[in-house]
Formats: sequence, C-alpha cells, structure tokens
Amino acid sequence: MSKNFYISTPIYYPSANPHMGHAYSSIIADFFARFKRIDGYDVCFLTGTDEHGLKIQRAAEKKGEDPQSFCNEISQTFRNLTEVLNLSNTDFIRTTEERHKKTVQYLWSQLEKNGDIYLSKYSGWYSVSDEAFYNTDEIEEKNGKKVSISSGSSVEWIEEESYFFKLSKWQDKLLKHYEENKDFILPKSRKNEVISFVKSGLKDLSISRRTFSWGIKVPNNSDHVIYVWLDALTNYISALNYVETNSKSYKKFWPASVHLIGKDILRFHAVYWPAFLMAANIPLPLRVYGHGWILSGDEKMSKSKGNILDPLEIIKTYGLDPLRYYLIKEVSFGNDGNISKEKLENCINSDLANNFGNLCQRVTAFAQKNCSAKVPKIIKFNKEDLEMLNKFTNNLENIRNEIDKQNVNFYIDFIVNALFEANKYFNDQEPWKKKEDLDRLNTIVYTSLEMIRKISFMLYPIIPQTINKVLKIFNLDSNAISLESIASHDKLRSGEPINKIDILFKKIEKNND
Ligand code: ME8
Ligand code: MG
Repeated sequence: MSKNFYISTPIYYPSANPHMGHAYSSIIADFFARFKRIDGYDVCFLTGTDEHGLKIQRAAEKKGEDPQSFCNEISQTFRNLTEVLNLSNTDFIRTTEERHKKTVQYLWSQLEKNGDIYLSKYSGWYSVSDEAFYNTDEIEEKNGKKVSISSGSSVEWIEEESYFFKLSKWQDKLLKHYEENKDFILPKSRKNEVISFVKSGLKDLSISRRTFSWGIKVPNNSDHVIYVWLDALTNYISALNYVETNSKSYKKFWPASVHLIGKDILRFHAVYWPAFLMAANIPLPLRVYGHGWILSGDEKMSKSKGNILDPLEIIKTYGLDPLRYYLIKEVSFGNDGNISKEKLENCINSDLANNFGNLCQRVTAFAQKNCSAKVPKIIKFNKEDLEMLNKFTNNLENIRNEIDKQNVNFYIDFIVNALFEANKYFNDQEPWKKKEDLDRLNTIVYTSLEMIRKISFMLYPIIPQTINKVLKIFNLDSNAISLESIASHDKLRSGEPINKIDILFKKIEKNND
C-alpha cells in the first residue's frame, strides 16, 4: 500500500482578513497532516487563496484598489496565518498564479472536447457573497430582500449569455458513486443532504460570466471569464502540476485523500467537483469531509455578518497550542461549536495545566529526586502497569482506522481518557510510599514516563510546539516521534537522563465576580 496522503483545506477568499473559522479548518487539516506524517506517510498538505470572481472584484473596488494588488495584500495575511498557526502545509496556492490559470484553461478544454460544454443564456438568481446560483425554491424574502435560504446572503437576478456544463448528464453517475463509495462524503448526515439534492434533479450549470472581467478567460472566447467555482476547485490538481505530462506530484498524490471543507461549500465539492472530474476522466478524490461551523452566539461566524473573533488576538493572549487544543477537543468534530474566552480558559486550566502539565511536572520531579534524574531500570511490570501501557498497544489499529474516517472525537477522547488514567495510576500507586521497595518504585516511574511519552506522541499533531518542549525531558525531538512506537513500552532506555522542563501551561487566575 502506498504511504502517500494528500489533504487540502478550502482556498479562502481574500476578501477580508482571516477569522477563527478559517483558522479552524486549517488547524484540523494540520492535525491530520501531522498525524499521517508520524505514521510514516509522505504528506501533501495544500491551502491557499481563491482570488477571482465578482466577490473579490467588488471588494477591491470598494477599497479603490485594482483586484490584483488587493489580493496580493490580503492573500499575504492568509499566508502569514499559516505561520502563526504553525501549519505544516507543503504548498500555498493562489488562483492568480500561472500554474493555476493554465490548469483551469486546460480542464475547460478537456470538458469542451468531451462534449460537456455548450453556449446558451443564463437567467436566474445569483449570490455574489456565496458565488452561487440558486433555484427559485432556494430563496426567500427577508426584510424586503431576496436571500438564499441556506446561507442568508442576498441574491441578485442575472441574465446573460453563458457557457453551461452538462451537469444533468452526470446525475446518475454521481448517485452511483455515492452508493458505491459509502464514505465518499462524511459525516453521514451531510451525505444524505447531498444525495437528496442530487436526486431532486440536477440542472446544467452556468460556468462562465461575461458582465465582469476579473477571472480566467474562457479559451477561444475572451468575452467570458470562467465561473469562479470551476476555477477554484481546480486548485486541487493545479497544485500538483496536473497539466505537466508525467507530473510526479500528480502521480504520487492524486486522487486526494481528503478535501476538508466547511459544510457551507459541500455542494461544490461533493456534486460539482466530482462531475467536472468525471467529465474530464480524472479520478475522484477519496473523501470530502464537511465539518461544522464555529458559531458566534448561535450564528455562523463570518466576515459578512461582522461577528468574527480574530485568531491572532486569541493567540497573543493565550498562546497557539491552547487554541489548537481547544478547537480540536471542545468543538465536537462534524458539528457546530462555540469558542469563548471563558471556555478557552477553563480548558487551559483543567486539561492542559492540571491534567497534562501536572502529570509531566510531577513525574519528572519525582524521578529527579528519587531516581537520580535518570530513566530507572524496570524489573518487571505488574498487571496494573501493563493494563495502562497496553491500552495503546491494543488500540493502535483502532486509532488509525478512526482517523481514516476523520474521527477526531475518538482520538481526543482516547487522549483525555489516557491522561486521566495516567494521573490516577500515579496517585494510586503511591511511589512516594515505596522507598523501601526500589524495584517497585522504579517500575512505577518507568511506567509513568512511558505513559508521558505515548501521550505526548499522540498529542504532537494537536500541540506540536508544546510537545517539542515535553520531549526535552527525554532528550528527544520531534524526529523521534512515531505512531507505531506507542505500541511498545521499552522505548525509554534506563540510565538516560531525565531533564527538568519549564511549566508547560500557566493556570489562568479567574476572579469570580
Ligand atoms: O468558500 N466555521 O472561501 P471562504 C468553520 N473560496 N469554518 C469556517 C467558518 C466558520 N464560521 N467560516 C469559514 C470559500 N470557515 C471558497 C472556497 S475551495 C475550492 C473554495 C472555513 O473564504 C470553512 O472551511 O468563504 C469554510 O468552508 C471556508 O472557510 C470558506 O471560506
Ligand atoms: Mg464563505
């Protein structure tokens, strides 16, 4: 089996600076990328910005800038965010890059060649904010304005000459694909929405516009620019140099393992994108995962609603890893979730400072004092030691399988549970009362240190910077991390030094007024 893994985030619109919702998708994608790397995979992790279309053109006009300079500026803030979030992305694509433009035009010509494109006239509703066409039954009237029922954004009526993609032709093939690939769309609840949308009947899709110019030109008809979603979706293969014959990265990483997206853009990824690919004879991605939304109150956090939380501000106050941990643990993956400073503070205090930080401090301090600051020798594990240690051994395959279904919740629950048990073990075993039985004392310390190692390895994809600090206890760095090794409990060599480390997470003082 090939050990290649390709995960993508959506490419974000650089119409305004990134907010917590964008940070969320990117952090989750980074979690998967890092997990797969420590499991021995070669990982392609793609993110970037989606720069064409009327939404961007209007945003630029509003600021009195030309769209390209406008995009240059804001795209850079998304690129900066990849650094601030400590993302391990291997590429960052902008749809205004040459490599992308030529791929989009090539894909268009393939669709045309295969008889899937025709010229006609579009008349219907369009949301510039969503860059989406809506049927009449998908819009409603709110405060005298026509809006999309699903997104709430306002729609305008457009009528113009347009090229169409024969989407209707692919309806049955799409349904067959969903049927034969049960996990193509996850989570399950969302898959059902997609299937009923497709079953309700697909109309051909307008894929060009001629009333504005900010986009990639239709080959052989420069009056039209290509619909921004056909343009944007193509990023997933243009980043792999799809147009180059024998592109190494395309061969290696396509089909993508997971397109991670928010549920707002599921239709584009689970209906349009696979239809385009089928029409061009390109294999389909293996998975489209539509995660839930970060809410602000009970509304989706979004720049158009103006209810955003700035990730930079949170990171400045609390640090990056607490935010990463919070988003992975406290937002039940697949569902909508909330973030507030109060909840974040509680999470830092209970999970990170009390459970994890404290375990590391206590065990190492005890080993410093009672084992001459060295990894002790074990004589023999008893039943309780093995019960602790073997949980990892026995669950390794399970962990891999659950992650292959993007079951983040399983993963974090496993860790939280292991932390609880490791703390309980250390308390219950009372090594401080075993000073007369050094064999036993040493074995308890060894077992606890191994637990710290295993838990840290598993926490690495979530809080990498912190784990780099923790590994200093053992004179290790992140290169030593492998998922496989959580199955063994002889990885720490007796006699090796145990080092003191600084406090990992400071508890946040809470005043109770
Ligand atoms: O849709 N909660 O870009 P976009 C969780 N350019 N995730 C959120 C979120 C929230 N409140 N708000 C945004 C586009 N996101 C297109 C994508 S892909 C070929 C083109 C995340 O800037 C989530 O991943 O509107 C969502 O799908 C994406 O940002 C939308 O970003
Ligand atoms: Mg959006």
